[in-house]
Amino acid sequence: MNTEWTKKSWQNFNYYQKANWYDTKLLADVLQELSKLPALVFAGETRSLKKDLIDISRGDAFLLQCGDCSESFVDCQGPRIHNLIRIILQMSMIITYITNKRVVKIGRIAGQYAKPRSNEFEIVDNVQLPIYRGDMINSYLPTPEYRKHDPKRILEAYYKSAATLNLIRAFTKGGYASLQSITDWQKHYFKNFPIMDKYSEIVINITKAINFMKALGLDVNNPQFNEVNFYTSHEALILEYEESLTRIDTTTGDWYDTSAHMLWLGNRSRYCDSSQVEFLSGINNPIGIKVGPDYNDEDLMCIIDKLNPANEQGKICIITRFGIPTINKQLPVLIKHIKRKKNNVVWICDPVHGNTYVNKYNRKVRRFEDIVKEIESFWEICIHENVIPGGIHIELTGDNVTECIGGLRALSEEDLDNNYTSLCDPRLNAEQSVELAFKIADIVKQY
Ligand code: PEP
Ligand code: CO
Repeated sequence: MNTEWTKKSWQNFNYYQKANWYDTKLLADVLQELSKLPALVFAGETRSLKKDLIDISRGDAFLLQCGDCSESFVDCQGPRIHNLIRIILQMSMIITYITNKRVVKIGRIAGQYAKPRSNEFEIVDNVQLPIYRGDMINSYLPTPEYRKHDPKRILEAYYKSAATLNLIRAFTKGGYASLQSITDWQKHYFKNFPIMDKYSEIVINITKAINFMKALGLDVNNPQFNEVNFYTSHEALILEYEESLTRIDTTTGDWYDTSAHMLWLGNRSRYCDSSQVEFLSGINNPIGIKVGPDYNDEDLMCIIDKLNPANEQGKICIITRFGIPTINKQLPVLIKHIKRKKNNVVWICDPVHGNTYVNKYNRKVRRFEDIVKEIESFWEICIHENVIPGGIHIELTGDNVTECIGGLRALSEEDLDNNYTSLCDPRLNAEQSVELAFKIADIVKQY
C-alpha cells in the first residue's frame, strides 16, 4: 500500500471528469453529512468477493457483472430492481446448469449514478448546455437550471443506493433467490420466444432434482439453497462521494470504500497520474480496470503496479472493451505483457463498450451479434494465450426495452423507437439477456 496515501490525497492529482459544483459551501455541507451516514456495504462482504475473484482466476467460478449503463433516480423503483435481479438470477442459473460453474454475481447497481463524458457541453435548440453527467451530478432535462452540477444530488444518490440495496438484500437473502422459485421467475417473460423450450427444459430438470433431494430427506430449505451473494459495483468517478464513504474497517484496521463492494476505473480516467488511480490505490476493495483500444501500455503497467503493489490475488480485474475491430490484434499483446510481468489479474470481457455506434437518428445502438462475437474472440484468445477467461461485464436490463438490435427476436433499427429509455448507452433487454446467457454457456462449455 502507498504509505503517503490518505483518503484525501487524490486531491493532489489530476482529477479527470471533475464536476463543477455550483456551490462549494453546499458541497462541503453535503459531504460532511455523507461522511457520517452509515456504510452501504461491509468490509467482510467485500473480502468475500475477493475470495470469489480468486476462485474465478483459477477457473472455478464465472463472473457475471451487469446492469444499467447509468442508473437514474426516477427508475429507483421496486419492480425495475426486481426485474433486473430476476434476470441476473436466470442468467446465472442457465450458465451454471450448462457449464457446472458457480456464477459470482455483481450488479452495476446501487451507486452507478455518474457518467464520464467525452464532451463537457452540448447544443440543445441553439443553446449551449452542460452535458448530462448522470443523476448524481445533474439532470438530463435540457435547461440551464437542471444541468447545474448540484451537490444535493450526491446525497440523493446515497439514499437511492441504500433503498436499492435494501431491496437487493431482501430478494437475495429472503427466499426469492431460492431455486424453488424458478417456476415463478419463468412466468414473467418470453411469450412465444424461440428459446422458451430450452429454458423450460432446464426448469423442469432442476425441479426434478429438487424433488429428488426432498425425497431423500435432504433439507432444501437450508440457507445454501435459498440465499445467494449479490455484490454491487460502480465506476469510481466522483471522488467526493467515494471519499466520504471510505472508512476504516474495525475488524482489520484497513481502509475500505463502503459505497460498493467493487469499484472500477473507467476508460476515460485510466491514467496513472489521475486522482481516480490515487484514490483507488489506498482502498482494499477489488478494482476493475477498463482497457479500451486507446490504452497506453506503459501507463497501464504503472496503474497496475500502483493499485496492486503486493500483487495480491483477486484484487485486479482487467476488463477489456476493445470491440470486434481490434480485439484480435490488441488482446494477445496485452495478455503477453501482463504474463511477462507476472501480474495476478482476473480477465474479464466487456463486449459492449467497444461495439457501440450512432445511427442516422442519433441513437446509440449495439448489435447482439457483435456482442456475442467479441465474447467468442475473448474466450478463444485467452485460451490460446494460456490465461483463464473469468467472465463478462455487460449492460443490460430486466425490462422490455428496444435499445440493441438483433437476437432471436430480430429487433431492427426501425424497432428502436418502440421503447428506447436508456439515458446513456443501449442495454440488452430481458429476452436478449437470457439468449446471451445460453450463448455464453455454450462458449464457456466449449473449452
Ligand atoms: C461504462 O462502463 O459505462 C463506461 C463508460 O465504460 P468505459 O469507461 O469502458 O467507456
Ligand atoms: Co456504458
